[in-house]
Parts: sequence; structure tokens; C-alpha cells
Amino acid sequence: KDRGEIRVHENLEELSIDLVDYIAEISEASIKEHGVFCIVLSGGSLINLMGKLVEPPYNKIVDWAKWYVFWADERVVGKNHDDSNYKLAKETLLSKVNVFPRHICSINDTVSAEDAATEYEFAIRQMVKTRTVIASENSDCPRFDLILLGMGSDGHVASLFPNHPALEVKDDWVTFLTDSPKPPPERITFTLPVINSAASVVVVATGESKANAVHLAIDDLTSLETSPSLPARLVQPSSGNLIWFMDKPAGSKLDGF
Ligand code: 6PG
Repeated sequence: KDRGEIRVHENLEELSIDLVDYIAEISEASIKEHGVFCIVLSGGSLINLMGKLVEPPYNKIVDWAKWYVFWADERVVGKNHDDSNYKLAKETLLSKVNVFPRHICSINDTVSAEDAATEYEFAIRQMVKTRTVIASENSDCPRFDLILLGMGSDGHVASLFPNHPALEVKDDWVTFLTDSPKPPPERITFTLPVINSAASVVVVATGESKANAVHLAIDDLTSLETSPSLPARLVQPSSGNLIWFMDKPAGSKLDGF
């Protein structure tokens, strides 16, 4: 198991500058390499920490027209519902740039969670066929340029919760839950194989309530097979980068801190 790169920041301001610098850098490199940038977002405080992207100088540097925005997870609610990750991202980021980036999200409030997961996976499969999204060389999964994850204090990432069967799904790219321990109960989420096939995965954790989960996810270097696992610990890109962005309180229980 690999710890990944760990960036502990003095405060949220510094963290957010480093985070948007990194996103802008990967955006530019991906567009140079294959013409577009396939970025995957999650909900929670992460979206606010990305706010500088829509302010100068980043808003002018980033080539929004080449962005495709995906979701690591989404709640099965209407697009204007307060629980919608799409609504949060739209209001905080996407509506504030001159070109509204293309987004891939099949959620509306009339579909079941199961159908929403099927439709979202179908949409991504089409994009892999047309090579907008690159296929992974070592798995049957898409290779997203960048997947951004938050982490709950229970160690959940996307909508993969501790001890939930969704963690075990290997053959689907997107799965669904109707019993999320954190409301709302109906959600869709990327599975671990998709997360671990990305070219770059970032986990953002801030605040003291995350310190224990950060420690368990990063410092427990025993084999993933032998010890029961926190979802965040299972984020182990097979041929991509893993970077943790955290503030000091979140990093306070790390070995050697
Ligand atoms: C959810 C959240 C989740 C989020 C983490 C961390 O649907 O459960 O949106 O995806 O990333 O819970 O959230 P915070 O950074 O706000 O603590």
C-alpha cells in the first residue's frame, strides 16, 4: 500500500491556492495531451475550496470550454434540490465562468437510484467509445484525468461508506445506494475500480473531525486484503497519482506529524 503524496497546509487559504494550482496544472496538461479535461467532482466543502478557480487569474488561465465535469457521487434528487451536488457546483463554480463547462449527470428526481446509476454509466461508456474519456490500459475502467474526493469523518469517499456493499462492487463503474447512512438515502457513486483507474486522485480533508480517519487511511500500511478497511484507505490508484490535501487539524494524528 502506498501512502501517496501528503500536503499539509497551514490554513484553508493556502490549501485552496495549492489545490486550484494543481487543478489548473492538470487541466492544462490533459488538454495538451488529449484535447479535453475530464474532471470528477464530489460534494461537500471541496467545492468551496475550489472557489478561486473562478476568480482571477485562474478564471482566465483555465480553458473551460475543454472541460467535461463528472461526479464521483450524486444524490438522487432534482437538479435544483438543496442536496444536489450539481446545484452546489453550479452555484459556486460552473455558472461563474464565461463558458459553462459541459457536465455529465443523468440525475433528475423522477428516476430511481438504480436507473440513474445505469444511465450515468451508459453515458460514460459512450464517452469512452468516442474517446472523449480515455480507457484505462490496465483495467476495464475509464481513466479520468483527475478525480477530486472529499472524505467524511467516518472515512467515506464519494458515496462509498464503511462496511457498505457498494464498496465491494467490482464489475460496474457506477453503483447505487438506497440506504446511505448519511442523508439523503438515495445516491449513485463511482465504484472503487473507477476511482483507482484515474490518472490522478486527490483527497481533500480539513478540520479536526477528520484527523482519526486521515491517520487510519494513510498510516495503516498493512495489506489491504488483511485488514478491514476504511473506504478512504482503499483509494489506491493502480497507475496514477494519489495526493492528500489537508490542513493541520486534519493532519494532526498522522504518524510523524
Ligand atoms: C456526501 C458528501 C461527501 C463529502 C464528504 C466530505 O455526499 O456525503 O458530499 O461526498 O465529500 O462528506 O464533506 P466535507 O468536506 O464537507 O466534510
